[in-house]
Amino acid sequence: MEIFLDTGLIDEIKEAAKWGFIDGVTTNPSLIAQTKRPQAEVIQEICSIIDGPISAEVNASDYEGMINEGDVLAKIHENITIKLPMTEDGIRACKYFSEKNVKTNITLIFSPNQALLAAKNGATYVSPFIGRLDDIGHDGMALIDEIRTIFDNYGYTTKILAASVRHSTHVRDAALVGADVATMPYGVVKKLFTHPLTDKGLAQFAADYKSSKK
Ligand code: E4P
Repeated sequence: MEIFLDTGLIDEIKEAAKWGFIDGVTTNPSLIAQTKRPQAEVIQEICSIIDGPISAEVNASDYEGMINEGDVLAKIHENITIKLPMTEDGIRACKYFSEKNVKTNITLIFSPNQALLAAKNGATYVSPFIGRLDDIGHDGMALIDEIRTIFDNYGYTTKILAASVRHSTHVRDAALVGADVATMPYGVVKKLFTHPLTDKGLAQFAADYKSSKK
């Protein structure tokens, strides 16, 4: 499973890049707003740090606006993935960018049928928001599982990008049900490294090493 970082914060991206396993970055208007910088500037800087797909979301809600914004964003770097909303206009824009061989990520997916429409128009990624579904008492992971079955039934190559990932159990379960990618905040990736028995084992090894030197 690929691991993307879900942030616009350059310091986090620089730190995470050192780990060597970050495959890409996703942003959205809320994450860009946290940076207090222009979107194009932030996206350009991210592209200079991570050599992988970088999702940049359009802010327009109409087809023409999405095309205009997306065309400008796509020129920033060959790794740009145009993030489009799951609306009629967004799905139309997905077809436009697919035909131009520009990568797309259809965001705010909350049902298998939405994912199916995105795949039919050639989306590179669909982003089911598992945490937001869990928040309202639904089963976010079941959605990933259903999309996996549908895409496998018909051979769609659209990648399932598990989004709105809130904790390490989401990451484990997304990998178990076959998500192609999980995008997650920096803090969630940090948690993936740790286990109390690892800490305990290391403390014991360090103590034994110290005593063997006496
Ligand atoms: C990623 O593409 C999404 O924008 C992001 O994962 C949303 O996460 P949230 O539900 O925690 O805001």
